Amino acid sequence: MSAAGLEKSLTLAIETSCDDTSVAVLEGGARLRSHLIAAQDVHQLYGGVVPELASRAHLELLPPMVERALADAGVRPADLTGIAVTNAPGLVGSLVVGVAFAKAYAAALSLPLIGVNHIEAHLHSASLEHGDSPWPAVALVVSGGHTELVLVRAFGDYHWLGATLDDAAGEAYDKVAKRLGLGFPGGPILDRLAAEGRADAFEFPRPMLDRPGFDLSFSGLKTAVANVLRPHGEPPYADSLVRDVAASFQAAVVGTLVAKCLRAIDHTGARALNLGGGVACNRALRAALAEACAAPRGALREPVALRIPSPRLCADNAAMIAWVGARRLARGERSGDELDAAASLEASGITSF
Ligand code: KG4
Ligand code: ZN
Repeated sequence: MSAAGLEKSLTLAIETSCDDTSVAVLEGGARLRSHLIAAQDVHQLYGGVVPELASRAHLELLPPMVERALADAGVRPADLTGIAVTNAPGLVGSLVVGVAFAKAYAAALSLPLIGVNHIEAHLHSASLEHGDSPWPAVALVVSGGHTELVLVRAFGDYHWLGATLDDAAGEAYDKVAKRLGLGFPGGPILDRLAAEGRADAFEFPRPMLDRPGFDLSFSGLKTAVANVLRPHGEPPYADSLVRDVAASFQAAVVGTLVAKCLRAIDHTGARALNLGGGVACNRALRAALAEACAAPRGALREPVALRIPSPRLCADNAAMIAWVGARRLARGERSGDELDAAASLEASGITSF
C-alpha cells in the first residue's frame, strides 16, 4: 500500500446494497469529510425490505445525495482521487444502481474506480473511530442479512471461522418482533422492551453452544419463541408477556454471540474484537462484550481491545466502503468496466475457510 497515496486520497464512496442509500467523502483514508445516510422508511409499511422499492429509491436518492455530500465536504468533483462502490453482497437490484452510477461518474471524471465487498467493509468499520486495529483480530458482523465470525490477520487477510447456518441474528430479531405483533425493524424495539422484562422468564435454547466450532444458528430460537406464544393465541399480547419474551430471547442471542466470540478469541489469540452490522447497536450485546473483554483471559494475555462503532457506523454506511476502497486504490487496485454486482457472499469471493 502506498502510504503517500493513501494520505493524499480523497475518496467518494457509494453504498446501496440493501435499503439504505449512503454516500461519503473520506480524506486520507481516515478523516470523514462528509457522510450521508438516507434510510428508506417506506419498508416499514410492509414489515420488511421490498427489493423493487429499494432500487427505485436508490435511483432517485443517489444523484442529489452525491451532490450534497461533495458540497458538505467542500470538495469539487475534480478534487476527488477515486471512487469506491459496494458491489457485493446484497440485493442485486440495489447493488446494480450504485455500481452503474459509480461507473458512469468515474468515467465522466476519468477517476479510478474500485468495487468493495460490503462484509469486508463491516469487518473494518470500527477503524473509522478507533484507528487501525491491532492484529490478529476477531471480527463479528451481525446484521439483518449476515452473522459472520472472521479472523482478520491483516487488511485483506481473512479466515472465516464461522457463520449462521440459517437465520442471521438481526433476522431472528425481526421475525420474533413480527410474531409478537411489533413493528419493523424489530431489533431496536426488542432491545428497548427487553430492558424492562425478566431475562429468566423463559429458558430459550443457546443454539450451537454445545457443539465445537464457531458456527451459529438462530432459527430454533425463533421456533422456541413461537412455542411459548402458541397458548396465548395471536397478538396483541399482554405487555408483561411481550417484555419477558423479549428479555429472554435477547439473553439467548447475546449469550450465544458472546460465547462464540470468546471461543474465537481464545482459539486465535486475537488482540482485538471488532464489531459491525446493525445488531452491534444492541445495548445488551455491547454491555456483555465489554464485561467479557475486560475480564482476564489466560495468564499472560493483555486485555482484548473491544472496538464497537457508534450506531451510525454499525449499520450500512458508505464511510466503511470508503475506508476499504481508499486502501485498495492506494495499493493500485482498480475495477474495470467489467465490475458487476454479486448477490451472495460466496459469489463475492471473499470467504476462505
Ligand atoms: O446492518 P443493518 O442496518 O442492515 C443489514 O441488515 O445489512 O442491520 C439491520 C438489522 C435489522 O435486523 C435490525 O433489527 C437489527 O439490525 N438491529 C438491531 C438493533 N438495531 C438494529 N438488533 C438488535 N438490537 C438493536 N438495537
Ligand atoms: Zn450490512
